[in-house]
Amino acid sequence: MGIAGFGKTELRYDMFDFVRNAAEAKRLVKCEGIYHRGQELAWDGKDILAMLIEKHGGIHVAPEKKEALKRVFAIILWGELAAWKVSAQLADGLVPLEAKMAATGQAFDEARHFYVMHDYLLHLGYVPERLDRAPQALLDLVLDTDNLAYKLLGMQLMIETLALTVFQTVRETEVEPVLCELMRYYERDEARHVGLGMQYLPSLIQRMSKREVHQLITFQVRLLAWALWELKVLAPDFAILGIDPREVIDRGRKKQLAALYEAFNALGWAWQADRNYPAAVLKSIVEFTFPTDASRKDKRRMFANAWEVFWNKDEIHTATEFAVHDGHRIRTARGVEV
Ligand SMILES: [Fe+2]
Ligand SMILES: [Fe+2]
Repeated sequence: MGIAGFGKTELRYDMFDFVRNAAEAKRLVKCEGIYHRGQELAWDGKDILAMLIEKHGGIHVAPEKKEALKRVFAIILWGELAAWKVSAQLADGLVPLEAKMAATGQAFDEARHFYVMHDYLLHLGYVPERLDRAPQALLDLVLDTDNLAYKLLGMQLMIETLALTVFQTVRETEVEPVLCELMRYYERDEARHVGLGMQYLPSLIQRMSKREVHQLITFQVRLLAWALWELKVLAPDFAILGIDPREVIDRGRKKQLAALYEAFNALGWAWQADRNYPAAVLKSIVEFTFPTDASRKDKRRMFANAWEVFWNKDEIHTATEFAVHDGHRIRTARGVEV
């Protein structure tokens, strides 16, 4: 604490001195771009929700699917609040100007996601209540840590990629027209937020010791375990909505790997060469807890699959994983279609 302008201050005069190399400088320019792109693409939540309700003549969902939809999107609602809080924490905690700008832009987006989802759920008759243990624990892990790298990995790379997967998969079911169209708007924003993780996490990792990186990976595995539990809790609701939870897991993993690969690759780390055994165990557990239709009928196949995925390396397609979300046409608050 400073006294009368002497001593320590919260103002980081060193915020412009952080760049270590050209690659980091390039990534920071991309972070600045995320902030400006966010401003350009900002949409008016009140306006868009009202426009979509009018366009589709109200909210139409089959009665047997309504409760399931409420339960899935209650988690999304509180997840949006968590994302809002985490991005505000990052906006305060990240030091370099460009990263701070990107996190600030995200906080602005998440506020909109939260109030629009709240308004939408009110139309569905949702009364806000406490979450189940698994989603609560998952969000608490990221909210409670003071470590900014853990927050960035947990929220931007793990939780937001999972949210993107749920948005995309729900949208494809065409379960409710207003929500499905709204998902396009959310997806555009969330894909940008994953970008902040991909661009800035490398800067935090390159300042870590090997031990700290291993601790970060342990944290990631804890997150994955809670996320799997959460998906298990949601499985009956997904079934009602016509969604195969196994597809959510497989899609989500591809997006998470693409985001992680981008972040670690920026440091020139062949991170896939180092086998992440706890993550591989989780992958095998998925074969038992969320079997495919074929392996459900044939237990030997289930074991064979578990063995195979434990040793196999996933294929990674960084370029295409997020293209589907970036391609949606939306109407911005400036009244233009982009
Ligand atoms: Fe969001
Ligand atoms: Fe987000």
